[in-house]
Amino acid sequence: MNHRSIRKYKNTPVDEATLNEVLLAGTRASTTGNMQVYSIVVTTNSEIKQQLAPCHFNQAMITQAPVVLTFCADFNRFNKWCEQRKAVPGYDNFLSFVTASIDALLVAQNVCIAAEEKGLGICYLGTTTYTANKIVDILKLPKGVIPITTVVMGYPEEVPGLTDRLPLHAVVHREVYHDYTEDDINRLYAEKEAMPLTKQLLKENNKETLAQVFTDNRYSKKDNVAFSKVLLQVLHDQGFMNNQE
Ligand SMILES: Cc1cc2nc3c(=O)[nH]c(=O)nc-3n(C[C@H](O)[C@H](O)[C@H](O)COP(=O)(O)O)c2cc1C
Repeated sequence: MNHRSIRKYKNTPVDEATLNEVLLAGTRASTTGNMQVYSIVVTTNSEIKQQLAPCHFNQAMITQAPVVLTFCADFNRFNKWCEQRKAVPGYDNFLSFVTASIDALLVAQNVCIAAEEKGLGICYLGTTTYTANKIVDILKLPKGVIPITTVVMGYPEEVPGLTDRLPLHAVVHREVYHDYTEDDINRLYAEKEAMPLTKQLLKENNKETLAQVFTDNRYSKKDNVAFSKVLLQVLHDQGFMNNQE
């Protein structure tokens, strides 16, 4: 209930024992068939962080935070194990990518919760999937491995307020899905739309509605299509697009 993304960090390093405890807690996450088809690349070296920075649109926290974690969907290790044990892996398809991505994300969130429990701050970076092709090269990810999300971690230099959430009943459906009427949408988004932050965003972005800030500026169709093309190419290059029997 106290989670907030931290975007400013002290330069205090995270000691190895603490980092390992947090990572170990992460690995207690459920994974598909307990296959653990993910890997975590830990970056603390400032040169590699500098290389990664443009992949994350130069967001300052990538170089400021002492630890950068890249969570990857990874069938490489499992495939190798299968091949060394006279088993034929069938994991070069789109479903396997989704499976491994789910594993990677569950571990990532468990790492975040464990980190916060220890007084560390975290922030996810969604830029990972936009520039996965470049991250593959920088982190030397072999075939079967795709970066899914990045988490920066360190001791917080700020205590931002909690961000808003839609009311619980907006996101929970009892028994079956109850689709939203126009009135429901008006009601559920009213609080968010009335916030001072919204007013500020409308002014800064010169937009009439908050939704337009998302569709026109933050997550535009043009960008989504361009980044989709990059990601589909990465899926192909990393060996997850063989969808024939
Ligand atoms: C997958 C994912 C990607 C995100 N990417 C970014 C990012 O690139 N930069 C950033 O500042 N915050 C990023 N965030 C943080 C969100 O903006 C943040 O979680 C959201 O605004 C809610 O705020 P809170 O985490 O403080 O509750 C990301 C969060 C998620 C889950």
